[in-house]
Amino acid sequence: MKYVIGNWKMNPTELPRALELIRATEAAIPAGTPRGCVAIAAPFVYLHPLACETAAVALAAQDTFWDQAGAYTGQVSPAMLKGLGVRYVLIGHSERRTHAFETDAHITHKVRAALDANLRVILAVGSRARSEAAVLRDIRRQLRVLDVLGSGRAQGRRDLLIAYEPLVAIGTGQAAPVDHVRRVAAEISRLSGAPVLYGGSISRKNASTYLALPELAGVLVGSASLRAREFAAIIQAAEQLSHHHDS
Ligand code: PGA
Repeated sequence: MKYVIGNWKMNPTELPRALELIRATEAAIPAGTPRGCVAIAAPFVYLHPLACETAAVALAAQDTFWDQAGAYTGQVSPAMLKGLGVRYVLIGHSERRTHAFETDAHITHKVRAALDANLRVILAVGSRARSEAAVLRDIRRQLRVLDVLGSGRAQGRRDLLIAYEPLVAIGTGQAAPVDHVRRVAAEISRLSGAPVLYGGSISRKNASTYLALPELAGVLVGSASLRAREFAAIIQAAEQLSHHHDS
């Protein structure tokens, strides 16, 4: 089955609601689904209680720090996340690039530290640009953070995914055009060798269209992941397509 990764961002504001949502997400996962296909990127403070609540939903952090321990007030290290049973970490989401002023230099160090701690990295790349040529330029620059992995780059690694999220598509209800996503995803996988996810206004209505694309390994879902029934429908779409593929 392809990846369905939810990103709750800074939601919900209360733990009981987070527990309720994770239970509903777990209930939507069909029996036999390989572990790690369905994941939720939750706020740091919920990761431990969520890990105690669910085994079937893999957990992701939405960020991490670039060192494992030390005098870094307010930071959370990859080693700490790994110790809680967290499997993935989202790095370089556009909201962190914008609101937390993250640069490619920060992102490079975070990717290295997260992989060193044996977390799987979901590196988010994207662009504000409207023209595809400019989008591709921005993305090529952002993918240079993978140089930290050495000459083999991401080829053959099982611990790295790249999420393509055009900024105009995030939280707008307007997912990016399918042909554009196919071309950009193909270029990202050519450059990185990593599986590519698409994110930006994925909903129950459009999920199957993107999940069916051969260039994509899955979807990254923001606001729809906070609506239990809608997220369940997206998981089911991925499950149905996987039967289609296998037959
Ligand atoms: P959205 O967010 O699905 O609400 O557009 C996607 C994301 O930012 O990961």
